[in-house]
Amino acid sequence: MKLIELRNELKKTYRQHGKDVADIDFIVSELLKVSRTELSLIDEISSAQEKKIRQYAKFRLDKSIPIDKLFKKSYFYGLQFFVDENVLSPRQDSETLVDSAIKYIKLMDLKNVLDLCTGSGCLAIAIEKNCMVNLTASDISKSALKIAKLNAKRLSANIRFVLSDLFENIDEKFDLIISNPPYIPSDVIDSLDREVKDYDPMLALDGGADGLDFYKKIASDFSTHLTERGILILEIGYNQCEDVISIFKDYKFLEKVPDLNGIDRVLVFQNKE
Ligand SMILES: C[S@@+](CC[C@H](N)C(=O)[O-])C[C@H]1O[C@@H](n2cnc3c(N)ncnc32)[C@H](O)[C@@H]1O
Repeated sequence: MKLIELRNELKKTYRQHGKDVADIDFIVSELLKVSRTELSLIDEISSAQEKKIRQYAKFRLDKSIPIDKLFKKSYFYGLQFFVDENVLSPRQDSETLVDSAIKYIKLMDLKNVLDLCTGSGCLAIAIEKNCMVNLTASDISKSALKIAKLNAKRLSANIRFVLSDLFENIDEKFDLIISNPPYIPSDVIDSLDREVKDYDPMLALDGGADGLDFYKKIASDFSTHLTERGILILEIGYNQCEDVISIFKDYKFLEKVPDLNGIDRVLVFQNKE
């Protein structure tokens, strides 16, 4: 069969089901082991290849399994991460946090960085690959930390990992603390897409009744772990900007940063002098 015909047919099906048609090219290029730009160079495929492509496309559609969990790989900040059911799939929106962290590291010559709630390690690793800093990353989930360590090893990122319930096992002070904590209100989780609620760990999503539990906990403890005038950078959920700014009202608010969709996604605070 001609590959272009199969791609068009499957994209049409995905479009009819409201699925992202770009997933088809992702599936095809993964299975044929070529880059997406090389797909147009392939003319005929074997019937075994066609069968496999159809199988994966159907499986993704029927089970609503996210494309990165299907292949256990996710691309974030130009890097490839291993992901499975134990970690949140890295979101493109979170690249905004990485951009902000790199900006402040360079601007203020920050050296010691803590990534609280690291999950797959994507934020810490992206920063480590772009800056000369000492990185510590922590998470309460043993299985998430195992994956973060694997990703750091694969990407040759030098990071110290700590198993910790927020700051419980963290003793040092840092120049910069970043965090993308769970921030979905508990009663909203049930209404999320199956791709999220069935395949991202609950531990990575549930931010308590109003979604703000982690910001409140971080606000009560972070300043003793931050050097004087150190920086705190937080990812926030849709509509949480004003609430989170008021939770951190005792600290200097530096800026809010929108993501690529124009939604306020990142807040930057500075510790007291
Ligand atoms: C929203 S995910 C963020 C993962 C990753 N940093 C990212 O941006 O893709 C939140 C992470 O917080 C972790 N977590 C949940 N409760 C925690 C706690 N009490 N202390 C530390 N980490 C926690 C979860 O295991 C999960 O990996």
